[in-house]
Amino acid sequence: MERLQKVIAQAGVASRRKAEELISQGRVQVNGQTVREQGVKVSPNDKIEVDGIPLDKEQPVYYLFYKPTGVISSVKDDKGRKVVTDFFPNVEARIFPVGRLDYETSGALLLTNDGDLANKLMHPRYKIDKHYVAKIKGLITKEEVRKLARGIELEDGKTAPAIVKIESVDRKKGTSVISLTIHEGRNRQVRRMFEALGYEVQKLKRERYGFLDLKSMSPGDYRELKPYEVKQLKVAPLNGNSVT
Ligand code: URA
Repeated sequence: MERLQKVIAQAGVASRRKAEELISQGRVQVNGQTVREQGVKVSPNDKIEVDGIPLDKEQPVYYLFYKPTGVISSVKDDKGRKVVTDFFPNVEARIFPVGRLDYETSGALLLTNDGDLANKLMHPRYKIDKHYVAKIKGLITKEEVRKLARGIELEDGKTAPAIVKIESVDRKKGTSVISLTIHEGRNRQVRRMFEALGYEVQKLKRERYGFLDLKSMSPGDYRELKPYEVKQLKVAPLNGNSVT
């Protein structure tokens, strides 16, 4: 017997948290009966439906996507803007992004229908390194780089220590390129870290997600993860070092 929300997540319909919401909203039926309470256990013989559609067990799939700028990290958008799944027209599995990159941020984004792994990777306990390169307006100082590395006070608390490096400074144009490796995944974190120092981010790219980089990929490309890569993501240690 498995918990209902886990079975829904494993079927690739939604993350486990989202599955709990679907249950509370009365959108899930077990053997024809609507179930609203959490924690109900089901067996493989139970007939589960979400919005009246039977749960068929999809094979888990895992993709690394090079998200271009100007794309929403979502599976649909009310305003009709481009979403990440528009780049997967031939993938029938119900994939969704693992976390998000801002509309204007490009770079490495995982998509999967494996709600369990997605939940795990998004959980703050799993300290997956994310490597960003930011181009900012202004000439950053070494002291400011040290501040970014030690942690910056933001409205939702101080950021965890990060690896921060000045890649280049263009004195003529008055811009700096800085790389940062962080393991937190707060909303607009990198942009807010620079804003806290008074800098505007002109360009932001996530070059690596854990051990996954964008080698030989162009914006809009995706590739399926190799089985050993999936395995490596699944064994990402708790509270430990990142998977790099
Ligand atoms: N930090 C940001 O500010 N934006 C992103 O998209 C990712 C990290």
